[in-house]
Amino acid sequence: MSSNSDPSTLIPPDAIETPAAIVDLGQARRNAVRARSELASHGLEWRPHVKTHKSRTLARIQLDTGVAGLTVATLHEAEVMATLGADLLLAHPPVGPAKGRRLTDFLRHHPLSVGLDSKASLDTTAEAARNAEREVPILVEVDVGMGRVGLGSSEEVVALAREAGEGQWTEFAGLLFYPGHIRVPAEEQGGELERVSRRLTRVLEALGAAGLPARIVSGGSTPTLWQSHRIEGVTEIRAGTCIFHDRDTVAMGVARPDEVAYRILTTVVSTAVSGQAVVDAGSKALAKEEFRSGGRGYGVVRDRPEVTVRAVSEEHGILDLTGTSWRPRVGDRVELVPNHVCVSVNLQDRLLAEEAGGFRPVPIEGRGRVA
Ligand SMILES: Cc1ncc(COP(=O)(O)O)c(C=O)c1O
Repeated sequence: MSSNSDPSTLIPPDAIETPAAIVDLGQARRNAVRARSELASHGLEWRPHVKTHKSRTLARIQLDTGVAGLTVATLHEAEVMATLGADLLLAHPPVGPAKGRRLTDFLRHHPLSVGLDSKASLDTTAEAARNAEREVPILVEVDVGMGRVGLGSSEEVVALAREAGEGQWTEFAGLLFYPGHIRVPAEEQGGELERVSRRLTRVLEALGAAGLPARIVSGGSTPTLWQSHRIEGVTEIRAGTCIFHDRDTVAMGVARPDEVAYRILTTVVSTAVSGQAVVDAGSKALAKEEFRSGGRGYGVVRDRPEVTVRAVSEEHGILDLTGTSWRPRVGDRVELVPNHVCVSVNLQDRLLAEEAGGFRPVPIEGRGRVA
């Protein structure tokens, strides 16, 4: 069966049905080692976000580098990663009774820190903590410019931190922020990083004055990875995309093209229309994420940066051949790098790790919402 997910099976290259997600575990390991050692050289911890790979295999690679722990976005990711014995942070606010019940079940067996920005989410978390009889460290989320989640004023942060600190089953542990609005090359990040630092400094001073010191300040991203130490007050970095990289992070100069450890293997299925070749990977394999670094398309041909995926429908990707003399033929295999790797991984049933003689399935256990 072509959907074999058994990691003990080595699948020969010609038995791989496309589209297929290929990972280079050696390169992923090198990416992890580099992130960990660069951050450590600045006295920063790495708590990689597993939303990128959702896979125990990749999480083990990160844990082997000596990271502080892992970050998760869903309770399913938490349940999967808890089996590795890692210290976990839920960087997504749990809200409502259904999440609360699942959180209770989780806390009965494992510790978890939680990032949140509202009284409602603190109530959900505190109730789960009380039911499970386990104290939960709380990181109060601050908006540093992205405008997605996070409190805007120091007064609001202090009030929620105080409430977390006074709870019988919650402890105020520190701050959480995500500078997801910074998506320019490193040399253009200075001004924004200074604004983030100033914002954090004000909040940390207000917390200090209120007798609520922050033990942890958790932040960072892949676009700002190599500049993490310029964010004043930060203690740990949650960059996740950097395990694989993608077209976006290469365009921002965070990684070289040869450091990308993920690609979609496709087959050319039509060249009937001139100026293009159609491959069998569309939005259901590559994803339909806009290219946020300027320029167009939904991905790029590996080793041919001049050839982009001009358009996608669900199972078709249209390669733009107008800027190249390369003319792939029907049946040729072509490898694509997606704009945003995390959403592409989330569309796969399994990853395939390239080895001498074939490909070995890598399960994506944390994908989906249910156990
Ligand atoms: C809350 C949070 N933390 C960390 C990350 C990881 O950042 P990156 O994808 O830039 O590695 C994300 C990414 O979406 C995030 O939403």
